[in-house]
Amino acid sequence: MNAGMYDDLDRPPLRPAALSRALELDGWRVEVVPSVGSTNAVVADRIRAGEPHGLVIVAEHQTDGRGRLDRSWTSPPRAALTFSVLLRPSLEPDQLGWVPLWGGLAVAQALREQAEVEATLKWPNDVLIGGRKVAGLLTELVNGAVVLGIGLNVTTSQDELPHDLATSLLLAGATSTDREPLLKAILRVLAGALGDRDTSAYRTLCSTLGRQVRVELPGGRCVEGTAEAIDELGRLVVDGTAYAAGDVVHLR
Ligand code: BTN
Repeated sequence: MNAGMYDDLDRPPLRPAALSRALELDGWRVEVVPSVGSTNAVVADRIRAGEPHGLVIVAEHQTDGRGRLDRSWTSPPRAALTFSVLLRPSLEPDQLGWVPLWGGLAVAQALREQAEVEATLKWPNDVLIGGRKVAGLLTELVNGAVVLGIGLNVTTSQDELPHDLATSLLLAGATSTDREPLLKAILRVLAGALGDRDTSAYRTLCSTLGRQVRVELPGGRCVEGTAEAIDELGRLVVDGTAYAAGDVVHLR
């Protein structure tokens, strides 16, 4: 096989020119790279260099993918959609906390639309199908701009996933695992969510609300209780106390 050809017909490469032509109509500037440490790190560097809103870096493979709470994020080449978006949204400071939530909402809604799966959200922005995680998001603030990093398992097999509570579109019985229309749908819905600033759609798809949860807080402390609400800042309210960050476990 020639160098550069792919050896797995179920994991075709993205077509950078076609993608970038299609997405530039919606104001996105897409760059596809074969391999990179972390797309979030690339976008952070571009923010520091003054790049405007709308850059999207997509990697066919990441060698140092990063997750929330200092975890790593790994995937075999072309099995996932791994990309980061540079956002310079003109939002009031109290709306900034909603950006990671709108990112998760965009993925969940796009999956429902394009892949016909019952995607829901675990606060803040894990995307679940049947209680298993299919996508995770890592949002970082750099010099006042936002890096929204998205990792979506598309054709990943169970033994390639990090744990039993993870899944992929293929494993979840999605009607489509074509990464190009999925990426286009996510970016279209994301642009809409950032424009509308509606907070009710997130609450509708958030399967954390009303559940008994354990919240593992950044300092190592844990709280358990009922997830009662998402407040106006996008924080999770558990038994009357609002939390801005943490890892949620759905207990029942
Ligand atoms: C999580 O679930 O903990 C968040 C995972 C975020 C992974 C994506 S993949 C694209 C972007 N680049 C990274 O290094 N991380 C995010």
